[in-house]
Amino acid sequence: MIVARTIRELQEAKKELRGSIGFVPTMGALHQGHLSLIQQARKENDHLIVSVFVNPTQFLEGEDFDAYPRKEEADSRICELAGVDILFMPTIDQMYEKDELCIGAPAIRGYILEGEKRPGHFDGMLQIVMKLLNLSSATRAYFGKKDAQQLALIIQMVKNYFMQVQIIPCEIIRDEKGLALSSRNVYLTREEKQRALCLSRSLKRASKMVMAGELDVETIKKEMLAVLSETDRVEYVAIVDREFKALKRVEIGNTIILVAAWVGKPRLIDNIWI
Ligand code: PAJ
Repeated sequence: MIVARTIRELQEAKKELRGSIGFVPTMGALHQGHLSLIQQARKENDHLIVSVFVNPTQFLEGEDFDAYPRKEEADSRICELAGVDILFMPTIDQMYEKDELCIGAPAIRGYILEGEKRPGHFDGMLQIVMKLLNLSSATRAYFGKKDAQQLALIIQMVKNYFMQVQIIPCEIIRDEKGLALSSRNVYLTREEKQRALCLSRSLKRASKMVMAGELDVETIKKEMLAVLSETDRVEYVAIVDREFKALKRVEIGNTIILVAAWVGKPRLIDNIWI
């Protein structure tokens, strides 16, 4: 595995690659969720590039940019074992210059739910993903459904800018009790981890209601909020279609049910695709 820390090193390493390139962008502190993307990308491509970069422009003032878990050595070991060809771990000055041209998230879809609670987050996320997709020359890039709105916006960016890369959505990986894996779970105490389980429980409850024929969005949301009472604060419960337009009734095969809530220090998100 080649570890590239500069754009030049990445370009040099890429010269050796022939055939399809799979690419998995991450912010590191790799867990089983990231690994599942890496493994799928490994299987489906001739070559594999992973990036680890804690992107400053997608953190808002007062968010956890400084405290965000950084585990370069462990990440690099995991990538090596997983058969990664190039691990790209750039510094901030390699990726950004002052007074940059910016990419803006779409005015509606980019500013509801996560975009409303974290205004500007998706602008920074799209900016870095655009850079990374261009740098990787990926044939296919892999993103988790865990960050469903992020995934939808990346798909839209690729469509709107006529980019050649194929975006591959990947399933959410959970622990044995149902908690969706996240680098931020390390902030949870044992007691909070227990309470955090009500996020996935609320989603299971919602999918059971749908299976039983309940399609009314308000009725489902009300029931979910009751299950979510163990969190410290619910930020939103939303039921939208795959393009993030609000729904009044669940459309089977075209619906995402999402939740965001605070438990202790971290703000957690989870969702289920119906
Ligand atoms: P990060 O949070 O490190 O996540 C990297 C990728 O792993 C994302 O596509 C995310 O959806 C996926 N992922 C995280 N937890 C997962 C889980 N439990 N199951 C399945 N996939 C999971 O998302 C980012 O970084 C950044 O915004 C990034 C796209 C790298 C841009 O900076």
